[in-house]
Amino acid sequence: MNIEEIYALIADDMARVNQCIQQRLQSEVVLINQIGHYIVNSGGKRLRPILHLLASRALGYQGENHIECAALIEFIHTATLLHDDVVDASELRRGNDTANAVWGNEASVLVGDFLYSRAFQMMVTINDMRVMAILADATNTIAEGEVQQLLNVHDPDTSEERYLHVIHSKTAKLFESATQLAAVLNKQDRELELALARYGMHLGTAFQLIDDVLDYSESSEEIGKNIGDDLAEGKPTLPLIYCMRVGDEKQRALVRQAIEHGGRDYIAEIKAAIESTGAIEYTARAARAESDQAIQCLANVPDSTFKDALRDLAEFAVNRTY
Ligand code: IPE
Ligand code: IPE
Ligand code: MG
Ligand code: MG
Ligand code: MG
Repeated sequence: MNIEEIYALIADDMARVNQCIQQRLQSEVVLINQIGHYIVNSGGKRLRPILHLLASRALGYQGENHIECAALIEFIHTATLLHDDVVDASELRRGNDTANAVWGNEASVLVGDFLYSRAFQMMVTINDMRVMAILADATNTIAEGEVQQLLNVHDPDTSEERYLHVIHSKTAKLFESATQLAAVLNKQDRELELALARYGMHLGTAFQLIDDVLDYSESSEEIGKNIGDDLAEGKPTLPLIYCMRVGDEKQRALVRQAIEHGGRDYIAEIKAAIESTGAIEYTARAARAESDQAIQCLANVPDSTFKDALRDLAEFAVNRTY
């Protein structure tokens, strides 16, 4: 199944999730509505809610809470994006000016806080302590990951291990929650719950590895974000870490300098070094391995088209170009 076919498979549920999102976005404060609608309706892929819906359907869930849960997961994701674009000084998101570029950093941070806290209000309506525990832990881990990454910025000695720890926390954790919560809502046994959690964690890791590859791709248009943002901020992502590991003296010095100083001045040279050392292939191979592990975690999920879609989404995480 391609991504459109996957969307079609859960179109009814997704329409309800979108309705829930629009409803819960409401506030008395005009600026919240403006920024909220701007970011929420700007064409995100909705991957995390899709994963939650697919996993719920794959397990045969008969309740109603998956709609609210999927919507609140997207709110948490959206809040992290509003904050992330401030932290990363990014100007383009989903093919549009970022909220911080339009309304400024203060408004972005504060509306991000609104979405975060709204997600917690939604969680309370689900009224399940395990759901709250998983999401409280996930949001806390995401924050830790972002702070850990901040400490790695401009540090060319950041290890692959430290990098992986950051991406598990800042990105994969929310994917993990999305699929684990489907099992929790459906009261599955611990084993299947953990298998689905691990599926989400591996898929999310693959997803961020590819995100870090795409930051060195050719066109901003396709990814809807400015390329080179990571380099500009001096972020030691895996393509750079690997390039320093296997590159010659000159390439190593070039990458070290770029991480230490940030900026976009040496982007062409860095790209050439990344290419000639095979750093993109290395990172893509790592993503492929994570995606394969994700698929293996589905072994005990009963066969269905929804399970097939979960498998194909793990493929999409690696093969995507946006
Ligand atoms: C962007 O996530 C942030 C990362 C974790 C890389 P997505 O690529 O899922 O963002 P949207 O929601 O589709 O725009
Ligand atoms: C993902 O990392 C950050 C979050 C989990 C919020 P990035 O900073 O690489 O995400 P993009 O590339 O801006 O979407
Ligand atoms: Mg960013
Ligand atoms: Mg970031
Ligand atoms: Mg990125």
